[in-house]
Amino acid sequence: MSASRLVMQGIGLSKRFGHVVAMDHADFELASGEIMAVVGDNGAGKSSLIRVLSGASVPDEGRVLLDGEEVHFKSPLEARLAGIETVYQELAVATEMDVAQNLFLGRELRKPGWTGQWLRQLDKGRMRAQAVEHMRNLGIRIQSIRQKVDTLSGGQRQAVAVARAAAWGRKVVILDEPTAALGVRETRQVLDLIRRVRDHGLAVVLICHNMPDVFEIADRIHIHRLGRRATVVDPKQVKPNDVVAIMTGALEPDAVPSALIAQEAA
Ligand SMILES: Nc1ncnc2c1ncn2[C@@H]1O[C@H](COP(=O)(O)OP(=O)(O)O)[C@@H](O)[C@H]1O
Ligand SMILES: [Mg+2]
Repeated sequence: MSASRLVMQGIGLSKRFGHVVAMDHADFELASGEIMAVVGDNGAGKSSLIRVLSGASVPDEGRVLLDGEEVHFKSPLEARLAGIETVYQELAVATEMDVAQNLFLGRELRKPGWTGQWLRQLDKGRMRAQAVEHMRNLGIRIQSIRQKVDTLSGGQRQAVAVARAAAWGRKVVILDEPTAALGVRETRQVLDLIRRVRDHGLAVVLICHNMPDVFEIADRIHIHRLGRRATVVDPKQVKPNDVVAIMTGALEPDAVPSALIAQEAA
């Protein structure tokens, strides 16, 4: 198989905090147009991996490739400029602002004019119109784009956070436990939304604890254990119990078929 399908790769990533090894030569791969679920026990190093891919943390060792080119993100902003948007584990919306303001947070549109950028007036009308269209494209139902986010349900807030990532991500959207705080119906809505984000052509990295959700939505599953990738599997070929057994060390990764595209990094 060709490695050109790979949008993103992590090769031999390590990260230590004093005596704690958060990542121990972890590898990662993400193909275009797929939802890659990342699963692993608490403390396995999932968030540490995601933080490196999203520019929130710099690895001690290892390389990150984007479309085959090595990148060295020193901040989340650098990753965003390269087309990678992240929704972190903590809810990532500004609750005192409305939906449209949240979608354009930090990227506000301004009216044309001859004064400096910082003096030009915000173009609220244009931002609202684009926000309405974007939410409609993603199938998110919110009564008004001018509704303050703190009046929305948990699922709707999370939908706004995912919609913002989808609006600006050109290549990759990374979601760290987006459904952890949600009820059954809200979880369903966010999972449907994640599918639509994938169907718009973005590659999605989804950290998720809930095995039925993972099996429902993932195209492939990255299993993380003790700071590194144990293996990658195809949910159509491997049973949830076996994924859990690999996560906990009860089953050897090579007991199940691998769904890796790239050869194991040397
Ligand atoms: N900033 C940090 N300082 C110290 N230890 C950390 C830090 N971030 C993560 N760790 C440690 O690294 C390990 C992996 O953590 P994390 O990546 O959050 O795992 P996960 O997301 O899979 O639960 C844990 O032992 C955690 O305590
Ligand atoms: Mg975590």
